[in-house]
Amino acid sequence: MAPARERRLFVASNRGPVAFEEVDGELVPRRGSGGLVTGLTSALQETGGRWVAAALTEGDRARAAEGAFTAEAEGAAYDLRYLAIEPERFENHYNGFANRVLWFCHHYLWDLWRTPSFGPETERWWAAYRAVNAEFADALAAEAAAAGGAPAVLVQDYHLCLLPALLRERARRVRVAAFWHIPFAGPTHLHALPDAIREALLDGLLGADLIGFQARRWADNFLACCADLPETDVDRAAGAVRRDGRTTLIRVYPIQIDAEALAREAGGERVAALGADLEASTEGRSLILRADRMELSKNVLRGFAAYDLLLERHPQWRGRVRFLAQLYPSREAVPEYRTYARECLAAAESVNARYAHGDWQPVDLALRDDYEEVLACYRRYDVLLVNPVIDGLNLVAKEGPAVNERDGVLVLSRGAGAADELGEHALTVNPFDIAETAEALHRALSMPRAERAARAAALRASVTATPPADWVRRQLDDLERVASAPD
Ligand code: F6P
Repeated sequence: MAPARERRLFVASNRGPVAFEEVDGELVPRRGSGGLVTGLTSALQETGGRWVAAALTEGDRARAAEGAFTAEAEGAAYDLRYLAIEPERFENHYNGFANRVLWFCHHYLWDLWRTPSFGPETERWWAAYRAVNAEFADALAAEAAAAGGAPAVLVQDYHLCLLPALLRERARRVRVAAFWHIPFAGPTHLHALPDAIREALLDGLLGADLIGFQARRWADNFLACCADLPETDVDRAAGAVRRDGRTTLIRVYPIQIDAEALAREAGGERVAALGADLEASTEGRSLILRADRMELSKNVLRGFAAYDLLLERHPQWRGRVRFLAQLYPSREAVPEYRTYARECLAAAESVNARYAHGDWQPVDLALRDDYEEVLACYRRYDVLLVNPVIDGLNLVAKEGPAVNERDGVLVLSRGAGAADELGEHALTVNPFDIAETAEALHRALSMPRAERAARAAALRASVTATPPADWVRRQLDDLERVASAPD
C-alpha cells in the first residue's frame, strides 16, 4: 500500500475554490467565498490535489467542458475539474435538499410547529440530491481509475453525504475521508427526517474510512445518530462505527486559518486606504464589529437586540460606540433568507431610529461582499461580536483576532464550535440570551487595557499556532492508519 503522501489526492465539494466570470470576453477566476473554500485552499497549496466541484456560474460551466484544467487566482494555483450539472437538477439539490432540508436540520432552524413538512417537493429535492451525488461519484471514479493505485478522496460537507458510499461501489480501492463542516444534529432532531432518508444519509457517510468534524460535540452527535441504525456497533470511546463489515473512524479536526496569507492580504494598499476611511468615519469611537454571511444561523437579529439593550441599560455608551455589521448576501434564492435579510435591515434601522442623535449613527449595516473591507474592519475593531445560534466552527472568530491591531475583545457564542478552542480567552455568551450578550458587550467595552492585551495575545497565539496544511495532513495520516489496519 503506497503511503499517504504518494497517493494521488482528490477533493470533492459542491462549491469550488474559484468561480469564473466573464470580463471583457475573458473568463476570469475569482476566489470562492465561505469557510470551506478559505480553509481548504491554503491547506491544499502544500499537499496538491485535484479539486472536483459543481459548476456554479456560467463561466464555470464554460470551463467544465474542458475536463480537468489548471488556473491561478489571487496568488494560488489550482488543479480543477468542474461538473456542469443540469440547472434544474442542481437547483433542487443545492437550494432544495442541501440548503432547505439538511442545513435547516443540522442548524436547528425549523420552527417545529410549522416546519418541516415533508412531501412531494422533498421527494423531488431528494431525487436531485441523489442524482448529483451520483454524478460526482461517476466523475471521481473515472478520475481514480485514470490515476491508478489507491487514491485518497476528501469529500467535503453536507452537499455530498451519499458520495462516500457511492464512490466505494464504483472504485473499491479509493480511500475516502469525509469532512463535515457544519454542526451535526442530535438524534432527536435527525429523526424528524423521513426514516429512509435519514438512514441513507448516514449510510452514505459511513461509506468513508474516516469522517472528520469541526468539534467534539458534532462528532458525539453523529455517533449517537449512528447508534440508532440497525445492526451497527458504535464504539464511542474509540470513535469508531462498524456496519456492513466495515469500520469508519470518527475524528475531530478543527479547521485552521492561514495567518501568513491573511496578514499579507490585510497589509495590502486598498485595505490600508479603507482602514483610513473607517478611522475617519469612526471619529475615535469604540467599534463593535460583526462580519458574517447574511445567514439565519448567524443570529444577526439577536445581535442588534443585544446592542439595543446595551444602549438602553448603559446609556454612557450612547454617542461613544459604533456597531458595524458587515453582512454579505447569501442564498438569495431561498425565501427564508430574503425575509431574514429584510428583517435584519429593519432591526438596524430601528436601533438607529431609537438612539441616533446629532451626527452619531449607532449602527452601520453594509450588505455587500468585499473581503478587503472586512479585513480593514478586522484590523480596527475594539469588540468582535460572533454570536451564531449554532455554527460548525466559525472562521471569523479566528480571522479577526489574527489580524486585529487594537487588542480587541472577542464576544463569542458558546454555540460555535470555535468556542471549544477559543472560549477561555473570549467572553462567551449563550446566543439566545440577549441580556447576557448586552452585558458581555458592556464588559468588553469597559475592559481594562491589561486584560484586553492578555486576552488578545492568547487568542492570537491560539489562532496562529497550527499551519493550515496540518488540517489535511492529519486527515491523510489517519486515513493511512485505517488503510493499513486489518479489517
Ligand atoms: O461549511 C458550511 C459552508 O459550506 C461554508 O463553506 C460556507 O461558509 C457556507 O457553508 C456557505 O456555503 P454556500 O455559499 O456554498 O452555500
